[in-house]
Amino acid sequence: MTGKIPDSSDLRRVFEKAFEVAQHQVKRLADNHPDYFPLYTEHGKWRHGGEAWTNWCEGFLPGMMWLFHERTGDADWRRRAEHYSRLIEPRKDDREVHDLGFLFYHGTYRRWYEATVREGKPDEALQAVVVHAGRTLAKRFQEKGQYLCSFVRPESCFIDIMMNVPVIWYAGLAADDEKLLAVARAHCETTRRYLVRGDGSTAHEAMFDPETGECLRQTTHQGYRGDSCWSRGLAWAVYGFATCAKLTKGAVWLDTAVRCSDYLVQQLAADLVPAWDFDAPADQRQQKDSSAGAIMAAGLFELADAFELIGQGGTAPANLRAYGMMALGALCCDPYLASPDSDWEGILKHGVYHVHKNLGVDESVMWGEFFFCDALHRALTLLDEGFGMKGR
Ligand code: GLY
Repeated sequence: MTGKIPDSSDLRRVFEKAFEVAQHQVKRLADNHPDYFPLYTEHGKWRHGGEAWTNWCEGFLPGMMWLFHERTGDADWRRRAEHYSRLIEPRKDDREVHDLGFLFYHGTYRRWYEATVREGKPDEALQAVVVHAGRTLAKRFQEKGQYLCSFVRPESCFIDIMMNVPVIWYAGLAADDEKLLAVARAHCETTRRYLVRGDGSTAHEAMFDPETGECLRQTTHQGYRGDSCWSRGLAWAVYGFATCAKLTKGAVWLDTAVRCSDYLVQQLAADLVPAWDFDAPADQRQQKDSSAGAIMAAGLFELADAFELIGQGGTAPANLRAYGMMALGALCCDPYLASPDSDWEGILKHGVYHVHKNLGVDESVMWGEFFFCDALHRALTLLDEGFGMKGR
C-alpha cells in the first residue's frame, strides 16, 4: 500500500479538513456509544467483543476531547472532556498496568489542569491526581534491574513505558520529590542502555534476571521478532525520550530521541508511513501501521520543542517540524484518512494493534486517533504562528 503526500502549499487546508473529520468521528462515537472506551475497530466498527489484551487506552478518547476544546474553544468539547476524564479518575490507583502516563499525563488530568492554568485559575486538585498517578506508577520500579516493569511480569521492561515515565518525572517535579525523580531517571537510563540499540533501533521488550537484575535478552510481543524493530515501539521511544528531555532539560534524553528518530526516518518508504515492523519479511511489510506514523509525526514536533527548550540544534527544530508536517500530510490522504460519510467509524485507517494475536490488524486504533489529533493540533498551531514550508 502506498499513499500520497500533499503539496506543502496545501497543508493548512489538508490539516483543517482532517481536524474536522476527527471531531465528526469522535462525536459520532460518543453519541452512539456513551461512556464507552474502545481500543480498536473490527471492520471499522468500535463496538465488538474482541479481546483487549490489556486496558491501556482509556485516556485517549478524553484526550482528543481536550485537544478539540483547546483548539476550538467549544464548550461542549470541554463538558465532554471533563465527563470522560472523571470516569477514569479511579485508575490513578491502578497497579495492574504500566500505562498511567497515557491515562493521566497524555490523556486527561494534566491537560485539564493546564487548561485551568491557561484560564488563570489553576486547580491544584487536578494536578494532585496526576501526581498521585505518578506515585502509583513508580511502585512498579524493580530495584534489582532499575526499571519500571511491564504489565506482563516483573522481569519484563517494555519500550512503551517511555511514554509513561513522564508522569513520574512530572510528579517528582511538581511535588519536589527526589525519590520519584530518581526512579524516573533510573528507568530512562536502563531503557537507553538495554532497549535502544547502537544503530538507534529499539527492542520491544527486555527481560531481566529477578535475582541479579542482569539483562538477559531482548524479546517482543507485538513486533515481528525479538531482534527486529517494531515501528510503533521506535515511535514511542522518539516521543517518550523527547518528552523526558523537555521535562528535565536533559541533553542525554534528547540525544537518545535523536538517534531513534534518525533510524526511524531512514526506514520509511516514499510515502512516509511506517511498516508495522521494519524487519518483517517483504510481503508482511506491506502492512502499514498508521498509528506509528501519527506517533512519529507528533514525536518529531515534541523533539523540535525539546531542542528549542534545551537551546541546541541550530536548524534541527525547523527541519524536524517540516518533516513531521509532510509525514502528517501523508496520513491526511487516501488511503489513510477515513471518510466521515462512510460506515467506517474511526479517523485513521490501516493501524495495527497486535499482529500475532490478530487483534486490530489493518483497523483504526484509539492511540492512533489520539496522536493523529495531537500532531494535527501542533501542526496547525505552528502554521498559525507563521511556520513556513516554502522551499522545503
Ligand atoms: N501496548 C502498547 C502498544 O500497543 O503500543
